[in-house]
Parts: sequence; C-alpha cells; structure tokens
Amino acid sequence: MLSCAYSAGICGIDGFLVTVECNCAKHMPSFEIVGLPDNAIKEAKERVRSACLNSGFGFPNLEIIVNLAPADIKKEGSAFDLAILISLLQASERLGNREDSLRVDLNDDCFIGELSLSGDVRGVRGALCMAISAKQAGKKRIFVPYENAREASVVGGIEVYAVKNAREVVNFLIGIGELEKYTYVPDEHESEVACPDFADVKGQAKAKRAAEIAAAGGHNLLLIGPPGTGKSMIAKRIPSILPEMSFEESIETTKVHSISGILPSDVSLIRTRPFRSPHHTMSTPSLVGGGRIPMPGEVSLANNGVLFLDEFPEFSKSVTEALRQPLEDGAVTITRTSGRVRYPCSFMLVCAMNPCRCGYRGHPTHECTCSDTEVRKYIGKISGPLLDRIDIQIEVPSLSYNELSGSDKTEEPSSEIRKRVNRARQIARERFKNERTDNGSTIYCNAQMEARHIRKFCQLSEACSKLMERAYNSLGLSARGHDRILRLARTIADLAEAENIEPRHLAEAIQLRTLDKNYGI
Ligand SMILES: Nc1ncnc2c1ncn2[C@@H]1O[C@H](COP(=O)(O)OP(=O)(O)OP(=O)(O)O)[C@@H](O)[C@H]1O
Ligand SMILES: [Mg+2]
Repeated sequence: MLSCAYSAGICGIDGFLVTVECNCAKHMPSFEIVGLPDNAIKEAKERVRSACLNSGFGFPNLEIIVNLAPADIKKEGSAFDLAILISLLQASERLGNREDSLRVDLNDDCFIGELSLSGDVRGVRGALCMAISAKQAGKKRIFVPYENAREASVVGGIEVYAVKNAREVVNFLIGIGELEKYTYVPDEHESEVACPDFADVKGQAKAKRAAEIAAAGGHNLLLIGPPGTGKSMIAKRIPSILPEMSFEESIETTKVHSISGILPSDVSLIRTRPFRSPHHTMSTPSLVGGGRIPMPGEVSLANNGVLFLDEFPEFSKSVTEALRQPLEDGAVTITRTSGRVRYPCSFMLVCAMNPCRCGYRGHPTHECTCSDTEVRKYIGKISGPLLDRIDIQIEVPSLSYNELSGSDKTEEPSSEIRKRVNRARQIARERFKNERTDNGSTIYCNAQMEARHIRKFCQLSEACSKLMERAYNSLGLSARGHDRILRLARTIADLAEAENIEPRHLAEAIQLRTLDKNYGI
C-alpha cells in the first residue's frame, strides 16, 4: 500500500518541503530509503525500525521502500525520521482507529524530528526555517520536537504541536490523545539588552561619538590605542546603543542561529542584536562558514548585529582577508559538490588593536620599544583593502588622571545615546523604504547603501564638494574610501536630523578616517 507524509529540509537558511512516500508490498521483507540520502538518512532506517518496535507499533514484515522527494536536492540531517515513521505506519496500515478506518488524512500535516531508539523525538537544527517552508507550502499543522516548539511558533498561520515521542503523535493523529499546541506571545522583556552601559566609560568622548555614529549608520569601526584605555570596554558596550531589530531582521537572525543549532530552547525569537566576539585563534571556516555539511560562520551568526575582533592584528592574515568579500556583499556563498548555499552576513565589524607590539607608539609619556620596521610589520598585518572597508578608524588615547577620576562629571548613559541612534535609523528607514540593493534585499541603514543610492541621497553642495576634493587629494583616498566618507557624512547628518549634508558633517566624517595619516597605514 502506498502512503505519503510531509517533512521539511534545509538549504542555506531556507527550508523546503520534502515528500516522504512509502510503499509496502508483500514481497521479501526489506527496508530501503531512496532520494539522495546521506549517511544520516541511511542510519534513519535503524532508528525508525527500533523506534517502531519500542513504541509498540511492531515492524511490518514487508518489502518497504521510502522515497524522499524532490530527489535532486541533497538532503542532510535527521529531521525526516518522524515523517518516515508516520508514512511507514500509514502504508502498513498501522495508523488509524481500526474501528472506522485504517488510515488518517496526512495532507495538511508536516512532521519534523529525529527519533531515538526508544521512540523519543529529539530536537533538530533549523525548525524555524522548516516551519516557514511548511506554511508556504500550505500545510496547516506542523509537529516539531518539544525543544523546537517555541521557535517554530513564531511563524503565524500554522498550528504548531510540540512532540515528545512517536506514540504521542500517533495517538493524537488517531484522535485518542492530546498534544501541547504552541502560539507565539511576544515577550515585552525580550528586546531589553542585558549589557554593560556606556556610563561606565570615563572620558573618551571622541571614541564614544564614533561608536554612536557607527551604531546609527551600521558602519564598521576600528579602535586603535595603547593598552588599558577602554577599547574593549567601548566595543562591548556597543550592543547597548544599537537600535531595536525589526521583525524581519529578527526572523533572519533567528533563522541563522536556528540552523546552527545554538538557539536556546526557551527562546522563540532573537530580539536583541547579536554580539559575537570570536577568539583570534579561530580558523577561516569558523569565521565565514563551511564544513562538509555547510554551516554558517561567525560573520553570519553576527547577522544584523556586531562582530567584534579584539586584538585585531593577532588574527591570522588569511582569516582577516577572508572578511573582505562578506563585508562587501553582505552574504557568503559556500559551494560544495552537493550544491551551493548562501548565508546572510550583514554585520557591523568592530575591531580593536594597539598601534604596535609593545602598544605605546605615539604615547605622550610611555616610551615605545618597537623599531619602525617592527611597527610597519605589525600594522602591515591588516591589508589596505581591508582597512578601506572600515569606515571609522579612531584613536583611543590614554586618559589624563583628571578625566579618569572626574567623579563630578557623570557620563551619558547608553539609554540616552540609544534614543538618538533610534531616531537616526528611523530617518534612514524612511528614506530607503522603496529602495532595494542589487541582490534585492532591504536596506536598513546607511552603511548598506550602494553606489547608486549614494549618488541619490548624498548629494554635496558646492562647499562640501570643495572640501571633499581637498580631502581626496591630501589623504590619497580610493574611490571606495570616497563613497564611505559620503555614507558616514549621511549618518552624521541624520544624527543631527539635517536634511542635507553640510560641510560640518562632511568634515567630521573625514576626521573619522585619519588613521592613514597618523600611522602611515
Ligand atoms: N575610559 C575608561 N573609563 C573607565 N575605566 C577604564 C577606561 N579605560 C580603561 N578602564 C579600565 O581599564 C580596564 C581595561 O580596559 P580595556 O580592556 O577596555 O582596555 P583596552 O584598551 O582594550 O586595552 P588592551 O589594548 O590591553 O586590550 C577596564 O576594565 C576598566 O576597568
Ligand atoms: Mg582590549
């Protein structure tokens, strides 16, 4: 007898519906799965057989063939187990309330979950993406592992049932048991940022202003200065001033965390921007993504948030250079024999570094022990093209005693800065509401503007034009550097709630890129 149940797979950060057909015939007993299965699906045979027996369904002594369609897409992972089991029970007439029917209607249902040998249903990666694809395919109910129910419930318009074991699902399908149904209730505390506050940072007004501009426009930021001046401190406080995420941004970020399997089971939707701070010993694949079964890297986990690289020159050159393409494109494409996957990575890069190995180059009182060659070698670890992609490069000098001990002066808390950042982002969102990037994605902030948007929204007056020309020639800027200054100037004007870029905005933008001059990078 033939049967059909539905499940879902993942390709990149998108799910796709998988049809699990099963045919049982009275021939030599066997059990085959076809449809480009990888090892995990072959192992599914053993899990399904054991789960069937241990859940008390018995295993049919028939020739069983399971087909996973579409056959031309490589399917990975163990999320199809539950659908295979349900399809198998249906085909062997073990599903259904024997008094009226031996079959149940599975057309509107989607089943997701890995089976244990005992028949328990275990959590899987990417439940959110799968639930979205099930809804798009017109399914009305989705059965997901208990630990994934919260994230799947974010998708409205489809009933989400949390499942602990296979017996529970079958009882529910034949109408003799209940399952817990999940609906998404936004938690008002979800978007609160539990993160240290800018009020702790004494002095460093210029660096704080740079952080504010960076947050308002989503610009990349490099902090450079001697040890112990507050670089790491400032970087770690940036999430506290970042604007709230829109629902679409939240979904996109949650999808990446969901397919990486790092979404906590009590979190339905990530509402605060991610802050990723990988160690400098990391490898290139863990930064940009990769692996035999492709997985998103740190750049994608930081999607819509911050990627912080502390002690920047300590990262190996191959790792930092691998950042160039994702920074430019906002997405990483990984090619494998099994196909290509694309992960979004629209993030704000924040880097911190010392000006030389001893850390004291340019310090007013502390002598630097590095030779010029050593300094060049140290700074030279970061290539020009990469530096060109960092819009704001700012010095964080050592503090005077007065600044540090200034107990009379209270520093501005993050909540105040965040208000200004939110206003500036609101202006930018309004401006870009009908605009799209070349690859069709929405523009959320000024840093995402492409060349044609810059021509349209960053027009310079004659005075500004002259100022720009002088800076271009004296700083030896590249065309990219020129565009980046314009993006920055747009953000500074937005923070001032000014319609047009004025010379003072442009001048501040130029000043935020003067590292080249001071350190000869
Ligand atoms: N501006 C500041 N206001 C208040 N405390 C500060 C400031 N700068 C540094 N500190 C104190 O010094 C400590 C070290 O600061 P931080 O880790 O930010 O230094 P850093 O600039 O990253 O140094 P390194 O180059 O060695 O990494 C902080 O934990 C804090 O206690
Ligand atoms: Mg530090």
